[in-house]
Amino acid sequence: MPFPPSFLDELAARNPIEEVVGQYVNLKRSGSNLFGLCPFHGEKTPSFSVSPDKGIYYCFGCHKGGSVINFEMEIEGLSYPDAVRALAKRAGMTVPEDEQYQSRYRRQERLWALNKEAARFFHGALFQPEGAAGLEYAGKRGMPKSTLTKFGIGFAPDSWDALCKAMEAKGYTREEMQASGLVSVSQKNGRIYDRFRNRLMFPIIDVRGNVIGFGGRVMDNSTPKYLNSPETEIFNKRKNLFALNLAKKTRLGYMILVEGYMDAVALHQYGFDCAVASLGTSLTEEHASLLARYTQQVILIYDGDEAGQNATQRAIPMLEKAGLQVKVLKMRDAKDPDEYLRKFGADRFRILLEESSNRVEYQLKAIQKKYDLNIDEERVNFITEAADFVSTLASAVQREVYGNRVAEAAKISPEAMKIEVQKAYKRRLSREKRKQEKIDLAPARNLQTQSRQIRYDNVKSAAAEERVVAAVMKEPALLAEIPELTPEEFSAPILAKVFSQQLQRHREGQDATLTGLTDFTSEEMAHIAGILQRYDGPVNAQALRDCARTIRVEHQTGNVRTEEDIMALRSRLQERKGIKQ
Ligand code: CTP
Ligand code: MN
Repeated sequence: MPFPPSFLDELAARNPIEEVVGQYVNLKRSGSNLFGLCPFHGEKTPSFSVSPDKGIYYCFGCHKGGSVINFEMEIEGLSYPDAVRALAKRAGMTVPEDEQYQSRYRRQERLWALNKEAARFFHGALFQPEGAAGLEYAGKRGMPKSTLTKFGIGFAPDSWDALCKAMEAKGYTREEMQASGLVSVSQKNGRIYDRFRNRLMFPIIDVRGNVIGFGGRVMDNSTPKYLNSPETEIFNKRKNLFALNLAKKTRLGYMILVEGYMDAVALHQYGFDCAVASLGTSLTEEHASLLARYTQQVILIYDGDEAGQNATQRAIPMLEKAGLQVKVLKMRDAKDPDEYLRKFGADRFRILLEESSNRVEYQLKAIQKKYDLNIDEERVNFITEAADFVSTLASAVQREVYGNRVAEAAKISPEAMKIEVQKAYKRRLSREKRKQEKIDLAPARNLQTQSRQIRYDNVKSAAAEERVVAAVMKEPALLAEIPELTPEEFSAPILAKVFSQQLQRHREGQDATLTGLTDFTSEEMAHIAGILQRYDGPVNAQALRDCARTIRVEHQTGNVRTEEDIMALRSRLQERKGIKQ
């Protein structure tokens, strides 16, 4: 009897892979991964990796890998069900009767549906006579109808039971309403009543598009200014960000993180469709890694007051630890972005954005701190390290400006510094070129799998399939980018199976985890883990669509590209290059 998916998800969540592996292997962090000596084969330099974000381990040496469950099986020599039981015990969970968990999952679905109905109810009310006050307030805050629709903003009528009655009519039970946090229970008579009354309602929507909670704002100066849904089975403030469902589609290439719902709404309205807000709590590591799934750069805008500054100081290291590049924007002449945009408009704001104090300066200072510039030798080392860093900057203007700054600090001429930066730049280029050549010229065998039991019939298609699988395991919402692709078009059965299970899970609103995949052998799991580790970094929707196209074309033309085919193609290419030279 298989374990229910939601149980396995929880099992994985409560048994962080780095902790479980950490009991056996001494792990050291390097970027977003942890490395250690592989417990499955003898080695002196660590090639065993653990990715806490992806919940996987993978050894680049012996190619063992998989989820926390596979690790437990492998290291303790347990069967799958026994490994699950061992991990459940470790986390203090009881292994459920199948049915109990099925019903819990069905229940979550009911709560999502209830929240969605409630959002519809509130949004509808905004345009009814009983919502007049709400609509007027929204107008006063400068929100046109398009913004109200985009965010599904609504109004909770000034009534004790308007929502209760409407949801009852839709067939939701009192118990479900209580579990959703939309109602409260009277201490006096035990009756339920609407939690949100006479408030402007902001639905909070997760990245999968489920309404998971609400924030409700009063329309005067009474308190609390915002009333939020309580934590429920489906609403966790530490794990969700307001407006991320919209911002994840931005093409701006960065995300703006603000404190307030109103700030995020205003930013979107003024064209900064990359804004998200935390939910009235301070930023968590979960928030940071959630953001890191969608972007590489975050611009932090917290209020100018002391609380805001403290929050900024706490948030920066958290975001950087998740691998994000952080910029900080200090608000001037306005309390928050909402106020700023309405006062000065989008263009002025854009200038602020561009000026936002960046991490370059900060990093240069950090490098400088390491050296005593009064000692010649240290001064030289400082110049080398700083030049290395400056050479990584993307624009020539930046390299010049910051190069000059280093020159000044090190008391050398800007020209001398420029040469140092160029040298560092060339060093890096040739390093990267060598790396690329190694990849290009590697024997075609590398395209083939490491495993003897898993062979690819069409390595070209399989390479694209691997990318697709890695992308949708990392970010299931990306499935929306490739709506037509079907598992039947895949050339590699194992990848088709992963893809099809992932499609199914996504339809059911489940997250992507390795533990959620069912019916794979240990060797297959290791193979999948290897793919996930290889295709790291953020996913580009365009590249994903290209992969889908490749898969389709290969499928339709019925190509079979063996290693030999690819090898022959390569040598022809090389010959052609040779002729050109
Ligand atoms: N917040 C909250 N409960 C409160 C006050 C604030 O949950 N009683 C959270 C909300 O998520 C709010 C954020 O903290 O959006 C920032 O608060 P604030 O700056 O006061 O709110 P704004 O979004 O700027 O709202 P407004 O402009 O309407 O005052
Ligand atoms: Mn505000």
